Amino acid sequence: LVIVVDFGGQYNQLIARRVRENHVYCEVYPYHKAVAKIKELQPQGIIFTGGPASVYEENAPKIEADVFELGIPVLGLCYGMQFMAQTLGGEVRHADRREFGKTETDVDTSSPLFKGLAEKEIVWMSHQDYVAELPAGFSIVAHSANCPVAAMQNTERKLYAMQYHPEVLHTEHGKEMLHNFLFEVCGCTGSWTMANYAKTAIAHIKETVGNGKVVLALSGGVDSSVAAALISKAVGSQLTCIFVDHGLLRKNEGDEVEAAFKDSGMNFVRVDASERFLGKLAGVTDPERKRKIIGEEFIRVFEDEGRKIGFVDFLAQGTIYPDVIESGAGDAAVIKSHHNVGGLPAVVDFKGLIEPLRNLFKDEVRELGAELGLPDYLVWRQPFPGPGLAIRIMGEITKEKLAILRDADAIFREEIANAGLQRDINQYFAVLTNNRSVGVMGDFRTYDYTLALRGVTTTDFMTADWARIPYDVLDKISSRIVNEVDHINRIVYDITSKPPSTIEWE
Ligand code: XMP
Repeated sequence: LVIVVDFGGQYNQLIARRVRENHVYCEVYPYHKAVAKIKELQPQGIIFTGGPASVYEENAPKIEADVFELGIPVLGLCYGMQFMAQTLGGEVRHADRREFGKTETDVDTSSPLFKGLAEKEIVWMSHQDYVAELPAGFSIVAHSANCPVAAMQNTERKLYAMQYHPEVLHTEHGKEMLHNFLFEVCGCTGSWTMANYAKTAIAHIKETVGNGKVVLALSGGVDSSVAAALISKAVGSQLTCIFVDHGLLRKNEGDEVEAAFKDSGMNFVRVDASERFLGKLAGVTDPERKRKIIGEEFIRVFEDEGRKIGFVDFLAQGTIYPDVIESGAGDAAVIKSHHNVGGLPAVVDFKGLIEPLRNLFKDEVRELGAELGLPDYLVWRQPFPGPGLAIRIMGEITKEKLAILRDADAIFREEIANAGLQRDINQYFAVLTNNRSVGVMGDFRTYDYTLALRGVTTTDFMTADWARIPYDVLDKISSRIVNEVDHINRIVYDITSKPPSTIEWE
Protein backbone atom coordinates (compact mmCIF):
# COMPACT_ATOMS: atom_id res chain seq x y z
CA LEU A 1 0.00 0.00 0.00
CA VAL A 2 1.09 3.52 -0.89
CA ILE A 3 -0.75 6.55 0.50
CA VAL A 4 -1.14 9.70 -1.57
CA VAL A 5 -1.51 12.81 0.59
CA ASP A 6 -3.78 15.20 -1.27
CA PHE A 7 -2.78 18.86 -0.91
CA GLY A 8 -5.45 19.93 -3.39
CA GLY A 9 -3.50 19.38 -6.60
CA GLN A 10 -5.34 18.94 -9.86
CA TYR A 11 -3.43 15.72 -10.58
CA ASN A 12 -4.21 13.88 -7.33
CA GLN A 13 -6.22 11.10 -8.99
CA LEU A 14 -3.73 10.82 -11.81
CA ILE A 15 -0.93 10.11 -9.33
CA ALA A 16 -2.98 7.32 -7.78
CA ARG A 17 -3.68 5.81 -11.17
CA ARG A 18 -0.01 5.92 -12.14
CA VAL A 19 0.90 4.09 -8.94
CA ARG A 20 -1.74 1.45 -9.58
CA GLU A 21 -0.56 0.99 -13.17
CA ASN A 22 2.54 -0.42 -11.52
CA HIS A 23 0.31 -2.99 -9.75
CA VAL A 24 0.88 -1.25 -6.45
CA TYR A 25 -2.30 -0.54 -4.52
CA CYS A 26 -2.72 3.03 -3.36
CA GLU A 27 -5.26 5.23 -1.63
CA VAL A 28 -5.71 9.00 -1.63
CA TYR A 29 -6.48 10.92 1.57
CA PRO A 30 -7.03 14.62 2.08
CA TYR A 31 -4.05 16.12 3.90
CA HIS A 32 -5.91 16.74 7.17
CA LYS A 33 -6.73 13.05 7.56
CA ALA A 34 -3.59 11.60 6.03
CA VAL A 35 -1.16 11.30 8.95
CA ALA A 36 -3.62 9.41 11.14
CA LYS A 37 -4.29 7.04 8.22
CA ILE A 38 -0.57 6.60 7.58
CA LYS A 39 0.02 5.66 11.22
CA GLU A 40 -2.92 3.28 11.16
CA LEU A 41 -2.20 1.58 7.82
CA GLN A 42 1.62 1.68 7.77
CA PRO A 43 2.02 2.05 3.99
CA GLN A 44 5.22 1.14 2.17
CA GLY A 45 5.47 4.62 0.74
CA ILE A 46 3.93 8.09 0.86
CA ILE A 47 3.47 10.58 -2.00
CA PHE A 48 2.63 14.25 -1.45
CA THR A 49 0.68 15.83 -4.31
CA GLY A 50 1.04 19.34 -5.64
CA GLY A 51 -1.45 22.04 -4.72
CA PRO A 52 -2.40 25.62 -5.48
CA ALA A 53 -1.15 27.18 -2.21
CA SER A 54 2.23 28.70 -1.26
CA VAL A 55 3.83 27.12 1.79
CA TYR A 56 4.42 30.49 3.43
CA GLU A 57 0.77 31.57 3.20
CA GLU A 58 -1.06 31.65 6.50
CA ASN A 59 -3.65 28.99 5.65
CA ALA A 60 -1.45 26.79 3.52
CA PRO A 61 -2.29 23.09 3.96
CA LYS A 62 0.16 21.46 6.37
CA ILE A 63 0.48 18.08 8.01
CA GLU A 64 2.24 16.99 11.18
CA ALA A 65 6.04 17.00 10.73
CA ASP A 66 6.42 13.63 12.44
CA VAL A 67 5.38 12.07 9.11
CA PHE A 68 9.09 12.45 8.24
CA GLU A 69 10.16 10.50 11.32
CA LEU A 70 8.26 7.28 10.65
CA GLY A 71 10.97 5.71 8.50
CA ILE A 72 8.47 5.38 5.60
CA PRO A 73 9.80 6.66 2.25
CA VAL A 74 8.23 9.94 1.10
CA LEU A 75 8.09 11.45 -2.38
CA GLY A 76 7.05 15.12 -2.47
CA LEU A 77 5.79 16.53 -5.77
CA CYS A 78 5.65 20.28 -6.55
CA TYR A 79 3.87 21.81 -3.51
CA GLY A 80 4.69 18.53 -1.76
CA MET A 81 8.39 19.17 -2.32
CA GLN A 82 8.13 22.75 -1.10
CA PHE A 83 6.28 21.60 2.00
CA MET A 84 8.97 19.02 2.69
CA ALA A 85 11.76 21.55 2.16
CA GLN A 86 10.26 24.22 4.37
CA THR A 87 9.23 21.88 7.16
CA LEU A 88 12.70 20.35 7.38
CA GLY A 89 14.49 23.72 7.57
CA GLY A 90 15.11 24.66 3.95
CA GLU A 91 13.87 27.80 2.28
CA VAL A 92 11.12 28.30 -0.29
CA ARG A 93 10.94 31.55 -2.28
CA HIS A 94 8.60 33.13 -4.76
CA ALA A 95 10.09 33.61 -8.24
CA ASP A 96 9.35 36.66 -10.40
CA ARG A 97 8.02 34.46 -13.14
CA ARG A 98 6.13 31.23 -13.35
CA GLU A 99 7.96 28.27 -14.86
CA PHE A 100 5.50 26.36 -17.00
CA GLY A 101 5.75 23.63 -19.58
CA LYS A 102 8.24 21.11 -20.88
CA THR A 103 11.69 21.79 -19.48
CA GLU A 104 15.03 20.19 -20.17
CA THR A 105 16.54 19.07 -16.89
CA ASP A 106 19.93 17.68 -15.89
CA VAL A 107 19.46 14.66 -13.67
CA ASP A 108 21.87 12.70 -11.51
CA THR A 109 21.54 9.12 -12.70
CA SER A 110 23.15 7.78 -9.54
CA SER A 111 19.96 8.74 -7.66
CA PRO A 112 17.58 5.79 -7.26
CA LEU A 113 14.85 8.01 -8.76
CA PHE A 114 16.69 8.28 -12.06
CA LYS A 115 18.09 4.79 -12.36
CA GLY A 116 18.23 3.73 -15.98
CA LEU A 117 17.45 7.23 -17.34
CA ALA A 118 19.47 9.67 -19.44
CA GLU A 119 21.42 12.62 -18.02
CA LYS A 120 19.05 15.08 -19.69
CA GLU A 121 15.34 14.54 -19.24
CA ILE A 122 12.29 16.48 -20.42
CA VAL A 123 10.00 17.19 -17.46
CA TRP A 124 6.73 19.10 -16.98
CA MET A 125 7.05 22.17 -14.74
CA SER A 126 4.18 24.21 -13.37
CA HIS A 127 5.21 26.41 -10.43
CA GLN A 128 6.16 29.86 -9.26
CA ASP A 129 7.60 29.03 -5.81
CA TYR A 130 10.91 27.19 -5.71
CA VAL A 131 13.26 25.66 -3.19
CA ALA A 132 16.06 28.19 -2.75
CA GLU A 133 17.88 26.44 0.07
CA LEU A 134 18.01 22.76 0.81
CA PRO A 135 17.19 21.37 4.23
CA ALA A 136 20.13 19.82 6.07
CA GLY A 137 21.11 16.36 4.84
CA PHE A 138 19.58 16.81 1.36
CA SER A 139 21.35 16.97 -1.98
CA ILE A 140 20.25 18.25 -5.38
CA VAL A 141 19.72 15.46 -7.91
CA ALA A 142 18.15 17.44 -10.76
CA HIS A 143 18.23 21.06 -11.90
CA SER A 144 17.16 23.10 -14.90
CA ALA A 145 18.13 26.52 -16.23
CA ASN A 146 15.45 28.28 -14.15
CA CYS A 147 15.07 25.85 -11.30
CA PRO A 148 18.07 25.24 -9.07
CA VAL A 149 16.37 22.35 -7.25
CA ALA A 150 14.28 20.34 -9.72
CA ALA A 151 14.69 17.24 -7.53
CA MET A 152 16.27 16.59 -4.14
CA GLN A 153 16.89 13.63 -1.90
CA ASN A 154 18.03 12.48 1.50
CA THR A 155 18.71 8.80 0.91
CA GLU A 156 19.46 8.08 4.56
CA ARG A 157 16.00 9.23 5.66
CA LYS A 158 14.39 7.95 2.42
CA LEU A 159 13.00 11.38 1.59
CA TYR A 160 12.74 12.36 -2.09
CA ALA A 161 11.10 15.20 -3.97
CA MET A 162 10.53 16.58 -7.45
CA GLN A 163 9.51 20.11 -8.36
CA TYR A 164 7.97 18.93 -11.64
CA HIS A 165 5.10 16.52 -12.29
CA PRO A 166 6.21 12.96 -13.14
CA GLU A 167 2.56 11.86 -13.25
CA VAL A 168 1.70 13.77 -16.44
CA LEU A 169 2.68 12.32 -19.78
CA HIS A 170 4.59 15.47 -20.77
CA THR A 171 7.32 14.32 -18.39
CA GLU A 172 8.73 11.88 -20.87
CA HIS A 173 10.06 9.33 -18.39
CA GLY A 174 7.76 10.23 -15.50
CA LYS A 175 6.42 6.69 -15.40
CA GLU A 176 9.92 5.32 -14.94
CA MET A 177 10.66 7.87 -12.22
CA LEU A 178 7.55 6.85 -10.25
CA HIS A 179 8.34 3.20 -10.88
CA ASN A 180 11.82 3.78 -9.46
CA PHE A 181 10.42 5.39 -6.33
CA LEU A 182 7.98 2.52 -5.79
CA PHE A 183 10.32 -0.37 -6.54
CA GLU A 184 13.84 0.95 -5.81
CA VAL A 185 13.01 3.07 -2.78
CA CYS A 186 9.83 1.65 -1.23
CA GLY A 187 10.54 -1.98 -2.10
CA CYS A 188 7.10 -2.57 -3.62
CA THR A 189 6.75 -5.79 -5.59
CA GLY A 190 3.80 -5.00 -7.87
CA SER A 191 1.52 -7.86 -6.88
CA TRP A 192 -1.79 -5.96 -6.95
CA THR A 193 -3.86 -7.34 -9.83
CA MET A 194 -7.56 -7.47 -10.63
CA ALA A 195 -7.55 -11.24 -10.20
CA ASN A 196 -6.32 -10.77 -6.62
CA TYR A 197 -8.73 -7.91 -6.10
CA ALA A 198 -11.66 -10.06 -7.17
CA LYS A 199 -10.63 -12.88 -4.83
CA THR A 200 -10.26 -10.60 -1.83
CA ALA A 201 -13.46 -8.68 -2.59
CA ILE A 202 -15.50 -11.87 -2.96
CA ALA A 203 -14.21 -13.22 0.36
CA HIS A 204 -14.95 -9.90 2.02
CA ILE A 205 -18.51 -9.74 0.65
CA LYS A 206 -19.17 -13.31 1.81
CA GLU A 207 -18.01 -12.47 5.29
CA THR A 208 -20.01 -9.23 5.49
CA VAL A 209 -23.24 -10.62 4.08
CA GLY A 210 -23.31 -13.97 5.86
CA ASN A 211 -26.79 -15.37 5.30
CA GLY A 212 -28.27 -11.94 4.61
CA LYS A 213 -30.20 -10.66 1.62
CA VAL A 214 -28.74 -8.05 -0.75
CA VAL A 215 -30.54 -5.89 -3.29
CA LEU A 216 -29.00 -3.87 -6.11
CA ALA A 217 -30.53 -1.50 -8.65
CA LEU A 218 -28.99 -2.55 -11.95
CA SER A 219 -28.94 0.01 -14.75
CA GLY A 220 -26.92 -2.00 -17.25
CA GLY A 221 -24.11 0.56 -16.98
CA VAL A 222 -20.56 -0.61 -16.32
CA ASP A 223 -20.44 0.12 -12.59
CA SER A 224 -23.68 -1.49 -11.50
CA SER A 225 -23.08 -4.46 -13.84
CA VAL A 226 -19.63 -5.18 -12.44
CA ALA A 227 -20.88 -4.76 -8.87
CA ALA A 228 -23.69 -7.21 -9.62
CA ALA A 229 -21.32 -9.78 -11.11
CA LEU A 230 -18.95 -9.54 -8.15
CA ILE A 231 -21.64 -9.82 -5.50
CA SER A 232 -23.39 -12.68 -7.23
CA LYS A 233 -20.10 -14.58 -7.36
CA ALA A 234 -19.88 -14.10 -3.61
CA VAL A 235 -23.43 -14.77 -2.44
CA GLY A 236 -25.33 -16.15 -5.45
CA SER A 237 -29.07 -16.19 -4.98
CA GLN A 238 -28.94 -14.05 -1.83
CA LEU A 239 -28.56 -11.14 -4.29
CA THR A 240 -31.58 -9.67 -6.03
CA CYS A 241 -30.93 -7.26 -8.90
CA ILE A 242 -33.74 -5.04 -10.07
CA PHE A 243 -33.41 -3.88 -13.64
CA VAL A 244 -36.01 -1.33 -14.63
CA ASP A 245 -36.59 -1.31 -18.37
CA HIS A 246 -38.23 2.07 -18.97
CA GLY A 247 -38.66 1.46 -22.67
CA LEU A 248 -36.14 4.19 -23.46
CA LEU A 249 -33.11 1.96 -23.93
CA ARG A 250 -31.19 1.48 -27.14
CA LYS A 251 -31.84 -1.33 -29.58
CA ASN A 252 -31.59 -4.78 -27.93
CA GLU A 253 -30.12 -3.28 -24.78
CA GLY A 254 -32.63 -4.65 -22.32
CA ASP A 255 -32.24 -8.15 -23.76
CA GLU A 256 -28.45 -7.86 -23.63
CA VAL A 257 -28.50 -6.98 -19.95
CA GLU A 258 -30.91 -9.81 -19.26
CA ALA A 259 -28.79 -12.28 -21.24
CA ALA A 260 -25.70 -11.33 -19.26
CA PHE A 261 -27.32 -11.91 -15.87
CA LYS A 262 -30.25 -14.24 -16.02
CA ASP A 263 -28.19 -17.41 -15.60
CA SER A 264 -25.68 -15.94 -13.18
CA GLY A 265 -27.18 -17.46 -10.06
CA MET A 266 -28.63 -14.22 -8.71
CA ASN A 267 -32.31 -13.30 -8.63
CA PHE A 268 -32.60 -11.15 -11.69
CA VAL A 269 -35.79 -9.12 -11.89
CA ARG A 270 -36.48 -7.27 -15.12
CA VAL A 271 -39.34 -4.88 -14.72
CA ASP A 272 -40.92 -3.98 -18.02
CA ALA A 273 -42.25 -0.54 -17.24
CA SER A 274 -42.26 0.89 -20.75
CA GLU A 275 -46.01 1.45 -20.92
CA ARG A 276 -45.94 3.27 -17.58
CA PHE A 277 -43.14 5.58 -18.70
CA LEU A 278 -44.52 6.26 -22.18
CA GLY A 279 -47.92 6.98 -20.70
CA LYS A 280 -46.50 9.60 -18.36
CA LEU A 281 -44.42 11.12 -21.16
CA ALA A 282 -47.26 11.40 -23.69
CA GLY A 283 -47.47 14.91 -25.11
CA VAL A 284 -44.49 16.20 -23.08
CA THR A 285 -41.95 18.22 -25.08
CA ASP A 286 -40.00 20.21 -22.49
CA PRO A 287 -36.61 18.58 -21.75
CA GLU A 288 -36.61 19.36 -18.04
CA ARG A 289 -40.12 18.00 -17.61
CA LYS A 290 -39.11 14.80 -19.40
CA ARG A 291 -36.20 14.33 -17.00
CA LYS A 292 -38.34 15.04 -13.98
CA ILE A 293 -41.10 12.67 -15.00
CA ILE A 294 -38.63 9.87 -15.68
CA GLY A 295 -36.79 10.39 -12.38
CA GLU A 296 -40.04 10.32 -10.42
CA GLU A 297 -41.40 7.31 -12.25
CA PHE A 298 -38.20 5.40 -11.48
CA ILE A 299 -38.80 5.96 -7.81
CA ARG A 300 -42.41 4.78 -8.12
CA VAL A 301 -41.34 1.58 -9.92
CA PHE A 302 -38.68 0.85 -7.30
CA GLU A 303 -41.19 1.47 -4.56
CA ASP A 304 -43.52 -1.10 -6.06
CA GLU A 305 -40.72 -3.64 -6.39
CA GLY A 306 -39.34 -2.80 -2.96
CA ARG A 307 -42.67 -3.58 -1.32
CA LYS A 308 -42.53 -7.04 -2.85
CA ILE A 309 -39.06 -7.66 -1.44
CA GLY A 310 -39.65 -6.27 2.04
CA PHE A 311 -36.73 -6.26 4.44
CA VAL A 312 -33.24 -6.72 3.00
CA ASP A 313 -30.02 -6.74 4.97
CA PHE A 314 -27.85 -4.87 2.51
CA LEU A 315 -28.27 -2.38 -0.26
CA ALA A 316 -25.49 -2.68 -2.86
CA GLN A 317 -24.24 0.15 -5.05
CA GLY A 318 -21.71 0.66 -7.80
CA THR A 319 -20.01 3.69 -6.23
CA ILE A 320 -16.50 4.11 -7.65
CA TYR A 321 -13.32 5.73 -6.33
CA PRO A 322 -13.53 9.16 -8.02
CA ASP A 323 -16.89 9.70 -6.22
CA VAL A 324 -15.24 8.70 -2.94
CA ILE A 325 -12.24 11.00 -3.39
CA GLU A 326 -14.42 13.91 -4.46
CA SER A 327 -16.60 13.56 -1.42
CA GLY A 328 -13.61 13.73 0.94
CA ALA A 329 -12.54 10.07 1.19
CA GLY A 330 -14.94 8.69 3.67
CA ASP A 331 -17.26 11.10 5.33
CA ALA A 332 -19.78 12.33 2.79
CA ALA A 333 -19.76 9.33 0.46
CA VAL A 334 -22.62 7.38 1.99
CA ILE A 335 -24.96 10.34 2.09
CA LYS A 336 -24.23 11.11 -1.52
CA SER A 337 -24.65 7.58 -2.78
CA HIS A 338 -28.07 7.27 -1.14
CA HIS A 339 -29.17 9.89 -3.61
CA ASN A 340 -27.85 7.84 -6.51
CA VAL A 341 -30.14 4.87 -6.22
CA GLY A 342 -33.32 6.49 -7.33
CA GLY A 343 -35.20 6.28 -4.07
CA LEU A 344 -34.83 2.59 -3.34
CA PRO A 345 -33.89 3.09 0.34
CA ALA A 346 -37.08 5.01 0.99
CA VAL A 347 -39.10 1.80 0.81
CA VAL A 348 -36.55 -0.94 1.23
CA ASP A 349 -35.47 -1.25 4.83
CA PHE A 350 -31.83 -2.26 5.12
CA LYS A 351 -29.11 -2.34 7.72
CA GLY A 352 -25.95 -1.80 5.71
CA LEU A 353 -24.45 -0.70 2.42
CA ILE A 354 -22.16 -2.74 0.19
CA GLU A 355 -20.00 -0.84 -2.27
CA PRO A 356 -17.48 -3.31 -3.62
CA LEU A 357 -16.04 -0.91 -6.24
CA ARG A 358 -15.47 2.05 -3.98
CA ASN A 359 -11.69 1.69 -4.27
CA LEU A 360 -11.52 1.38 -8.05
CA PHE A 361 -11.11 3.80 -10.93
CA LYS A 362 -13.30 3.38 -14.02
CA ASP A 363 -10.65 1.65 -16.10
CA GLU A 364 -10.02 -0.76 -13.22
CA VAL A 365 -13.75 -1.47 -12.99
CA ARG A 366 -13.70 -2.45 -16.67
CA GLU A 367 -10.67 -4.66 -16.10
CA LEU A 368 -12.42 -6.32 -13.17
CA GLY A 369 -15.55 -6.83 -15.28
CA ALA A 370 -13.50 -8.61 -17.93
CA GLU A 371 -11.80 -10.68 -15.20
CA LEU A 372 -15.24 -11.75 -13.94
CA GLY A 373 -16.23 -12.83 -17.43
CA LEU A 374 -18.76 -10.12 -18.28
CA PRO A 375 -19.31 -9.66 -22.03
CA ASP A 376 -17.51 -6.84 -23.83
CA TYR A 377 -20.75 -5.01 -24.61
CA LEU A 378 -21.24 -4.42 -20.89
CA VAL A 379 -17.62 -3.89 -19.92
CA TRP A 380 -17.00 -1.35 -22.67
CA ARG A 381 -20.42 0.26 -22.63
CA GLN A 382 -20.25 3.99 -23.19
CA PRO A 383 -22.04 6.25 -20.71
CA PHE A 384 -25.77 6.30 -21.26
CA PRO A 385 -27.97 8.86 -19.52
CA GLY A 386 -30.59 7.73 -17.01
CA PRO A 387 -33.46 9.30 -19.02
CA GLY A 388 -32.25 7.31 -22.02
CA LEU A 389 -33.52 8.01 -25.51
CA ALA A 390 -36.15 10.41 -24.14
CA ILE A 391 -33.54 13.18 -24.19
CA ARG A 392 -32.36 12.20 -27.67
CA ILE A 393 -35.78 12.63 -29.23
CA MET A 394 -36.62 16.28 -29.62
CA GLY A 395 -40.24 17.10 -28.96
CA GLU A 396 -42.85 14.52 -28.08
CA ILE A 397 -41.79 10.91 -27.51
CA THR A 398 -43.77 8.32 -29.41
CA LYS A 399 -43.27 4.62 -30.09
CA GLU A 400 -42.75 5.37 -33.76
CA LYS A 401 -40.00 7.92 -33.07
CA LEU A 402 -38.34 5.55 -30.61
CA ALA A 403 -38.25 2.82 -33.25
CA ILE A 404 -36.74 5.18 -35.86
CA LEU A 405 -34.07 6.41 -33.47
CA ARG A 406 -33.19 2.89 -32.25
CA ASP A 407 -32.61 1.62 -35.77
CA ALA A 408 -30.58 4.64 -36.85
CA ASP A 409 -28.50 4.62 -33.66
CA ALA A 410 -27.78 0.90 -34.04
CA ILE A 411 -26.43 1.45 -37.59
CA PHE A 412 -24.27 4.33 -36.36
CA ARG A 413 -22.80 2.16 -33.61
CA GLU A 414 -22.30 -0.79 -35.90
CA GLU A 415 -20.35 1.25 -38.45
CA ILE A 416 -18.20 2.88 -35.77
CA ALA A 417 -17.33 -0.61 -34.58
CA ASN A 418 -16.66 -1.75 -38.15
CA ALA A 419 -14.23 1.14 -38.54
CA GLY A 420 -12.50 0.08 -35.30
CA LEU A 421 -13.20 3.47 -33.68
CA GLN A 422 -15.39 2.33 -30.78
CA ARG A 423 -12.75 2.89 -28.11
CA ASP A 424 -11.36 6.12 -29.58
CA ILE A 425 -14.67 7.97 -29.49
CA ASN A 426 -15.77 8.19 -25.88
CA GLN A 427 -19.46 8.68 -26.53
CA TYR A 428 -21.43 8.60 -29.78
CA PHE A 429 -25.11 8.42 -30.54
CA ALA A 430 -27.89 9.55 -32.85
CA VAL A 431 -30.44 12.26 -32.06
CA LEU A 432 -33.84 12.45 -33.71
CA THR A 433 -34.54 16.13 -34.32
CA ASN A 434 -38.03 17.52 -34.57
CA ASN A 435 -37.16 19.00 -37.89
CA ARG A 436 -38.62 17.75 -41.17
CA SER A 437 -37.36 18.64 -44.58
CA VAL A 438 -38.01 17.83 -48.20
CA GLY A 439 -36.10 15.12 -49.98
CA VAL A 440 -36.34 12.99 -53.06
CA MET A 441 -36.16 9.21 -53.14
CA GLY A 442 -36.53 7.46 -56.45
CA ASP A 443 -39.13 9.59 -58.21
CA PHE A 444 -40.93 10.56 -55.06
CA ARG A 445 -40.89 13.61 -52.90
CA THR A 446 -40.32 12.87 -49.21
CA TYR A 447 -40.98 15.03 -46.18
CA ASP A 448 -39.17 13.32 -43.30
CA TYR A 449 -37.03 13.74 -40.22
CA THR A 450 -33.51 15.09 -39.96
CA LEU A 451 -31.26 12.84 -37.89
CA ALA A 452 -28.22 14.27 -36.10
CA LEU A 453 -25.12 12.26 -35.27
CA ARG A 454 -23.02 13.19 -32.25
CA GLY A 455 -19.58 11.85 -31.38
CA VAL A 456 -17.23 13.26 -28.73
CA THR A 457 -13.79 12.69 -27.32
CA THR A 458 -13.35 13.48 -23.67
CA THR A 459 -11.74 12.16 -20.52
CA ASP A 460 -14.11 13.53 -17.89
CA PHE A 461 -17.32 14.37 -19.80
CA MET A 462 -17.19 17.85 -18.25
CA THR A 463 -15.57 19.21 -21.38
CA ALA A 464 -15.51 17.48 -24.73
CA ASP A 465 -14.43 17.94 -28.32
CA TRP A 466 -16.35 16.66 -31.33
CA ALA A 467 -14.83 13.53 -32.74
CA ARG A 468 -13.09 13.77 -36.10
CA ILE A 469 -14.83 10.77 -37.64
CA PRO A 470 -13.33 10.15 -41.11
CA TYR A 471 -15.52 11.34 -44.02
CA ASP A 472 -15.72 7.93 -45.59
CA VAL A 473 -17.05 6.43 -42.35
CA LEU A 474 -19.63 9.24 -42.06
CA ASP A 475 -20.56 8.69 -45.67
CA LYS A 476 -21.21 5.00 -45.13
CA ILE A 477 -23.26 5.68 -41.99
CA SER A 478 -25.32 8.31 -43.76
CA SER A 479 -26.15 6.21 -46.80
CA ARG A 480 -26.97 3.14 -44.73
CA ILE A 481 -29.32 5.05 -42.43
CA VAL A 482 -31.30 6.80 -45.16
CA ASN A 483 -31.56 3.54 -47.08
CA GLU A 484 -32.44 1.28 -44.19
CA VAL A 485 -34.48 3.44 -41.83
CA ASP A 486 -37.84 4.78 -42.94
CA HIS A 487 -38.72 8.43 -42.25
CA ILE A 488 -35.19 9.79 -42.23
CA ASN A 489 -34.15 11.68 -45.34
CA ARG A 490 -31.36 13.96 -44.07
CA ILE A 491 -28.39 13.49 -41.78
CA VAL A 492 -26.21 16.12 -40.11
CA TYR A 493 -23.10 15.78 -37.96
CA ASP A 494 -22.80 17.86 -34.79
CA ILE A 495 -19.48 19.79 -34.83
CA THR A 496 -19.73 21.70 -31.57
CA SER A 497 -17.54 21.15 -28.56
CA LYS A 498 -18.60 21.29 -24.91
CA PRO A 499 -18.70 24.07 -23.86
CA PRO A 500 -20.55 25.89 -25.39
CA SER A 501 -22.77 22.89 -26.23
CA THR A 502 -23.49 19.94 -23.97
CA ILE A 503 -22.94 16.37 -25.05
CA GLU A 504 -26.62 15.43 -25.04
CA TRP A 505 -29.05 17.60 -26.99
CA GLU A 506 -31.57 17.98 -24.18
P1 XMP B 1 -24.05 16.70 -20.95
O1 XMP B 1 -25.18 16.54 -21.91
O2 XMP B 1 -24.47 17.40 -19.69
O3 XMP B 1 -23.68 15.22 -20.51
O4 XMP B 1 -22.84 17.30 -21.56
C1 XMP B 1 -22.50 14.85 -19.82
C2 XMP B 1 -22.52 13.35 -19.61
O5 XMP B 1 -23.56 13.00 -18.70
C3 XMP B 1 -24.50 12.14 -19.33
N1 XMP B 1 -25.83 12.57 -18.88
C4 XMP B 1 -26.56 11.93 -17.94
N2 XMP B 1 -26.31 10.83 -17.23
N3 XMP B 1 -28.41 11.04 -16.15
C5 XMP B 1 -27.25 10.37 -16.35
O6 XMP B 1 -27.04 9.32 -15.72
C6 XMP B 1 -28.73 12.17 -16.82
O7 XMP B 1 -29.79 12.75 -16.62
C7 XMP B 1 -27.76 12.64 -17.77
N4 XMP B 1 -27.72 13.69 -18.61
C8 XMP B 1 -26.55 13.64 -19.28
C9 XMP B 1 -24.28 12.32 -20.81
O8 XMP B 1 -24.68 11.19 -21.56
C10 XMP B 1 -22.80 12.57 -20.87
O9 XMP B 1 -22.07 11.36 -20.79
